Amino acid sequence: MDKLLGGIRMRRNRQTDWSRRLVRENVVTVDDLIWPIFLVDGERVRQPVASMPDVYRLSVDEAVREAERAADLGIPAMALFPFTDPALRDEAGSEALNSNNLTCRALRAIKAKGLNLGLMTDVALDPYTSHGHDGLMEGETILNDETVDQLCRQALVQAEAGSDVIAPSDMMDGRIGAIRESLDSQGFRGTQIMAYSAKYASAFYGPFRDAVGSSGTLKGNKLTYQMDPANTDEALREAELDIAEGADMIMVKPGMPYLDIVRRLKDAFRVPTYAYQVSGEYAMIRAAAANGWLDDERAMFESLLAFKRAGADGILTYFAPKVAEMLARGK
Ligand code: PBG
Repeated sequence: MDKLLGGIRMRRNRQTDWSRRLVRENVVTVDDLIWPIFLVDGERVRQPVASMPDVYRLSVDEAVREAERAADLGIPAMALFPFTDPALRDEAGSEALNSNNLTCRALRAIKAKGLNLGLMTDVALDPYTSHGHDGLMEGETILNDETVDQLCRQALVQAEAGSDVIAPSDMMDGRIGAIRESLDSQGFRGTQIMAYSAKYASAFYGPFRDAVGSSGTLKGNKLTYQMDPANTDEALREAELDIAEGADMIMVKPGMPYLDIVRRLKDAFRVPTYAYQVSGEYAMIRAAAANGWLDDERAMFESLLAFKRAGADGILTYFAPKVAEMLARGK
């Protein structure tokens, strides 16, 4: 073995635990986590989501409890998603504008606890529309500008109820600028915006649509507004526009299959960049683990580390409480 270049042995640094820790480049910490939760009407309700083991639809009182747990664990933020009673869904998604809707009630109840915890809310009409689309429809068409007007009002309703971070996930053109302007004009200059900048038309959202009850109702697909999984340059243009329009943070979604996009956006723009490890990614890991085909906890940590390596500043993940608990115990 005298052929080793300059006597370099890459394995030397890997020999011991202390040395491996010393040369480690990336680490997952509790500060990287945003925890998405699902809301449902009622009291003391914890409804399991069939395709997402250990994930529940929570009534507001239970959501408050989980928010307290999140704050205790040091998780920086939670993202709220409502399961809207089908009777409240209509063509126009009017319930999105009801200042007493499930999301707003949860915002007020959690905010009243005065926790050191950011609350994020999704701006899009799909949990509220009878057709399951993110925007207003005319025939088969999703109307852009009319939808944006409605989203501005939805964002205001959420900001008034206490949302700290408005997260438009609808992929309408021009919505970030319009929402920023309407928030500012109503005195919500401090309300942050995390833009779902590169949101792809993905098969990995399946379990989420079950969780919020929009899978059965969705007519057609979202290909005319969400991005084509074949594209990467387009993600740069989307993010560039969102940043120019006033986004404080940008996001890539789904996560693991799109790490190349996370890296490209982070390198190009150097703004806080997040990845959403979506419901289908969570379901895949949990399902394989349930079959004994891979190790749950190792796969979970490795997947989160991959986001850090790709340059993400944080991860929206259904694993958040479990990861935070393990990190608190020193793993
Ligand atoms: C709604 C929205 C979706 C998700 C977050 N916000 C679904 C969709 O666009 O159909 C998916 C999240 C997940 O799968 O975990 N606009």
